[in-house]
Order: sequence, then C-alpha cells, then structure tokens
Amino acid sequence: MSQPSAAFTELPGHPHLAYRNGALMVEAVPAAEPARQFGTPLYVYSRAGIEQAAGAYQAAAQGKPVSLRYAVKANSSLAVLQLLAHLGWGFDIVSGGELARVLAAGGEASKVVFSGVGKLDAEMRAALEAGVQCFNVESQSELRRLSRIAGERGVVAPVSLRINPDVDAKTHPYISTGLKGNKFGIPQGLARTAYTDAALLPNLRVVGIDCHIGSQITQIGPYLDALDRILDLVADIEHHGVKLEHIDLGGGLGIRYADETPPSIAAWMGALLERLAQRGYGHRQVMFEPGRSVVGNAGLLLTEVVTLKSSLERHFAVVDAAMNDLMRPALYQAWQAIVPVQPRDGKHSLRYDVVGPVCESGDWLGRERELDLREGDLLAVLSAGAYGMAMASNYNTRPRAAEVLVDGARVHLIRERENLEHLVAGEQLLVF
Ligand code: LLP
Repeated sequence: MSQPSAAFTELPGHPHLAYRNGALMVEAVPAAEPARQFGTPLYVYSRAGIEQAAGAYQAAAQGKPVSLRYAVKANSSLAVLQLLAHLGWGFDIVSGGELARVLAAGGEASKVVFSGVGKLDAEMRAALEAGVQCFNVESQSELRRLSRIAGERGVVAPVSLRINPDVDAKTHPYISTGLKGNKFGIPQGLARTAYTDAALLPNLRVVGIDCHIGSQITQIGPYLDALDRILDLVADIEHHGVKLEHIDLGGGLGIRYADETPPSIAAWMGALLERLAQRGYGHRQVMFEPGRSVVGNAGLLLTEVVTLKSSLERHFAVVDAAMNDLMRPALYQAWQAIVPVQPRDGKHSLRYDVVGPVCESGDWLGRERELDLREGDLLAVLSAGAYGMAMASNYNTRPRAAEVLVDGARVHLIRERENLEHLVAGEQLLVF
C-alpha cells in the first residue's frame, strides 16, 4: 500500500482515497493541498466517505422499523453532525455538551437519546428542556433522580433502561462495556424490578430497553447473544405489565483498520432483524447508535515528518502529530495504517517507529512501519475519522489540530487550528 507504482492505486477499505500519479488523493483533492493551506497536524474528512457509510445503514434500515442515532462521541465536530442531521439521522449523546452540539448543528431533540452512566442533574434538566426522545437510564438511583427532576419541572421523562447483558464483545477490554464486571447498565437479574419500579415513578414513562456491549466489534455473534438476552427480558418485563415501545441495540459494527473483516452493515443488521422476527418482535421499533463505522474510515490525520533519528536499536520518525491529537495508539495499542502522501521510490525504506513530540514513550502513532522518508515529508494516518479529534487534548500545551471536510474538489475548513490564546483563555495569574 505504501509504494504504489501504477498511476491510480486504490486503498482497500478506503473508497474515497487513492493514489493518482504518485500523490494521495482525498476524493478529487491531493492531500498535500489542505496541508499546505492549513498546516499540520490536520484532520481531513471525506464527505462522500461519511455519506456512503451512513448510506449503508440507511439502505439496510429502509422499509424496516429502524431508527438511526449517530453516536456523537465518535466525531462531534459541528459540520459532521450537520451532515448527519441533514441525512435525517438522530443522535446518541452522553453529555450536555454533546446535546448543545447537536442542537447547534441543526439536529432534532426529538431524535436524541441520552446515554451515559453518570448524567448530571443539570444535564438532565437541559435534556428535558430540549425535549429529547429518551433517557437511557443505567441504575435505579438514576431513575429516582430523573423522576424527581422531571417532577420539579412538571414534565414526564421518557426512559429506556440500559441492561448489562453480560456478553463478551471480543474487543479491547477498555471498549468492552457489556460484561458484568463493567460499570455500565443494570444487571440482568435486577432488570425486572428496575422496570416495575420505573413504571411506578410518577414522572417517568417507560418507552424502551437498551444495551451496548462494546465497540470495534467485528462479528455478528456477540450482538445476537445480547439480543437474545434482551428479548428474554422483554418477554419477562412485558409479562409483568410494562410495555416497551423500542429496543435499542447500541453501537454499530467495527471497521477495517488492518486486516479485520467485519460483515457488511446489511448482513449484520439483516441478521439482527431476522432474529427479532423469528422471536416474534419483527414489528418492534429498533434503534442503533453507530459511531465509528459512520465516520472512521472517512477521515485521516495528516502530519509532517519533523525529524528522523536512529538509536542503536530503532529508527524513529518524529512527526508533528502526537498522542494528544490521536490517542488511540497510546491508549489501546491500536493499529492504524500510516501512508506517505507523496510516496518515494522505496530505495531508502527503513522500519520506523512513527512517534510524536510529546514527552512520553507511549507517544507513538505506529510502530515498525516500513517507510521511505525524508524530513518534511507528509504522512497520512488512516481510519482517523472516529475517536480521533473527539479525543484530542492539549497535553504538552499543544493546540488542537484544524479539521477540513473535502467535498469533491472543494475543501471546507470546518474547525480552525487552536492558537496559544485559546489555550490560556480562562486561566488567571495569581495576584501577589
Ligand atoms: N452507544 C453507546 C452507549 C456507546 O457507549 C458507544 C461507544 C456507541 C454507541 C458507539 O459505538 P461504535 O458504533 O462507535 O462502536 N474511544 C474508543 C471507543 C469507545 C466507544 C465507547 N462507546 C476507541 O477509540 O476505540
């Protein structure tokens, strides 16, 4: 992938990226162009990439009782949310901040589900005020608090209970959320009591059931296991007189970073809808909250090689993006492809650790990557559209990167680069 010879070379899994005449293109734009115009590190998203991925969900849901709620946490940039709102998507939020972003981007509150294990009183109030579709509640204590807050405002809060189905999602332990040892959800064994309690609370209206077992799941099996357990509970809960309108099955599929082979969205959603139908719930409203698979492979991070250096044992390419810009490699030992923007002939290829300037040895973007590099070269870290910018920080007082959205031959700046003024805004010196 790193040394294309043909005039046009596709990048598998990245339909809106290709090498044309020796230059990496994002749609019709040479990747080097926005880097020159806006500097690096720079996040670049393909509008067609996002729309194609979103379209795969929409096509699979077509004519079915399915609601799509994009998980804002994956990429919460306003223009990205605006694109999805424009396509008719609703949103899955986990904070008052995400709610404010959705509303600012033109999203409809009536299509917002509010997830999260520790919602604050003020966030609950803001969500009630906005009129969200439902709260995905994670404990009995949260049920009581939400009922009280809704009561104070004289409204009724729609609730869905997040159940922890104790299913192994077979993903990285940090992003596995549906095991009984995880902090998330209401244990299956307490579900019926939680529902009958919720039904008695004066300012709640029970509307659904919810689960989320983890992220970057590349098999259908764990989803089917979770669904089976949820449907067992639905039968039990409804038998005890609480009617559920919708079933929310959590996030979307994992994506291809390296050699993963997730099923198609159509096959995955089809299998889940088929199981629902087999078990007599074919007409029930179903919700999905995909994040990663909508934006992940539609984005990349451009970075410039600052210094090449070698120790006795290793070769390092120090680049101007770091763990504060893209945290996934440092946090989860995640592998993301790193490719040259203008590939050389490969005659001086070395096996590089691609590292950032942050003062931690864990600050790497990729290890042992075969690359032919000179200082000043541009690299692209692929599959960076999800959980990239959204997890960026200012560690080492590094301004966060700019973001652009490519649309055909056009480049839109959707977030300007932070400057030092942004970084110290709100700080105060002591008065001696
Ligand atoms: N719904 C809920 C309640 C979630 O907690 C998540 C992700 C999603 C939906 C979206 O799941 P997806 O479709 O993206 O798999 N920072 C990590 C991923 C954390 C995911 C947390 N929850 C990473 O970079 O791999």
